[in-house]
Amino acid sequence: MMNKYKLNVGIIGLGTVGSGVIKLLKKQRRNIKNRTGIELKVVAITARNRRKRRGVDISSFKWVDSPLEIARDPEVDVVVELIGDTDKTAAKVIREAISNGKHVVTANKSLLAKEGSFFEELAKEKGVFLRYEAAVAGGIPIIKVLQDSLIVNKISKLYGVINGTCNFILTKMESDGREYLDVFSEAKKLGYVESDPRLDIGGIDSAHKLALLSCLAFGTTLNFKSVKTEGIDHISIEDIQEADLIGYKIKLLATAEYSKNTLIQEVSPKLIRKGSPIAQVNGSTNIIAIEGEEIGTTVFSGPGAGMGPTASSVVSDLVAIASRKSKSTFLTGEKINGSNKYESTSKKSSFYLRFILKDKPGVIARLSGKLSSCGISISQMKQKPFAKQKATLIITTHKTLQENLEKALIDIKNLKICEQRPVCIEIQEFQKGSQVS
Ligand SMILES: NC(=O)c1ccc[n+]([C@@H]2O[C@H](COP(=O)([O-])OP(=O)(O)OC[C@H]3O[C@@H](n4cnc5c(N)ncnc54)[C@H](OP(=O)(O)O)[C@@H]3O)[C@@H](O)[C@H]2O)c1
Repeated sequence: MMNKYKLNVGIIGLGTVGSGVIKLLKKQRRNIKNRTGIELKVVAITARNRRKRRGVDISSFKWVDSPLEIARDPEVDVVVELIGDTDKTAAKVIREAISNGKHVVTANKSLLAKEGSFFEELAKEKGVFLRYEAAVAGGIPIIKVLQDSLIVNKISKLYGVINGTCNFILTKMESDGREYLDVFSEAKKLGYVESDPRLDIGGIDSAHKLALLSCLAFGTTLNFKSVKTEGIDHISIEDIQEADLIGYKIKLLATAEYSKNTLIQEVSPKLIRKGSPIAQVNGSTNIIAIEGEEIGTTVFSGPGAGMGPTASSVVSDLVAIASRKSKSTFLTGEKINGSNKYESTSKKSSFYLRFILKDKPGVIARLSGKLSSCGISISQMKQKPFAKQKATLIITTHKTLQENLEKALIDIKNLKICEQRPVCIEIQEFQKGSQVS
């Protein structure tokens, strides 16, 4: 069994995060030992290409050709999986490591969001720890906060900006006045976009992270499939400028709320009042607000990705395992099996709408007629001059039931007066007086 003060570490994956972990361990090894009495020793490493330059000297470490060899190595106490979810290797490695009685640290949010419950059961059965602080919000220690510091709070809601790539794109569109596709290409060139871009811009990465946060915050069963997910690729510079004119910024907001035995999880673009701390989070910074019975609203903000912050979270998990302060994978108690669903019916909000209409007589009257017949009252309406036989119509609504708006948008689609799918963004209002309002 592992020596309390020494942990033998096997690292699988030496990309941004993996090589960052090696750098950090080299830099902080003595400091960690001085501060905690814990010695973290790398005893085996692997990646796909042994000859690739890693920006850190790895010649003193034992190189192993197969990731599964590390998962089975008797000398290894903890396996650090930093491959990502591109093929089945990460899943096999984690299963094999836990089955062989090894602790696991991973940053793999997509794999955990899908298979976390299975790994949790396996880890429980084998009496090992599965830690994943780096999987959500990079350097912000939000997992430990939910598992430890806020455990006595009944949490009703959490929300925030948890995908740096989308935030970088929306921020750049706004600051430089550039179109989505232009900024997306720049983000790609800078290496900010995942190899499958839909994960970022389609909101799926945020949904993975939200599912992990929700089950910790509310004690519910992990349920990624029930996250209603919408991305940012339909947002134009026009939407950002119109939002600005009425005092808002557009952010991809992840929100989870638990009440009356129902969990509502949603990732979608929202109009956020400019004065809110959430609107002021730029670039790759993440922000998460938590509403708890005792604490009120608490806000956490910091670097959401990158070598240093992510490596810092991985190494903190290693220290937690070595000092045996670690909790179980999600929460130790019985899971709440409340219904996990997205309910549009009960929600009342104001909305920003942008329509590109065909240049035909009476189109605006027909459109507003449909809104009115669905009980939607218009707060502001602005028509831009007709150009190229199209007209842009910007509308903000008074508070309305979301289901009414959904019905109106279907009715408007059936009128066949729109040149393209309308843009519809909820105007997010936070509790008055809260730290994020
Ligand atoms: N980057 C971030 O800021 C960040 C933040 C939070 C979480 N994460 C998560 O951290 C994990 C790693 O991300 P990353 O950015 O470090 O990825 P990365 O730079 O693409 O590195 C992936 C590493 O895994 C190795 N690898 C891939 N497939 C392998 C296989 N089948 N067998 C052995 N090695 C394999 C690669 O080897 P080669 O180098 O030889 O090709 C590479 O060293 C992912 O789950 C990611 O979602 C990353």
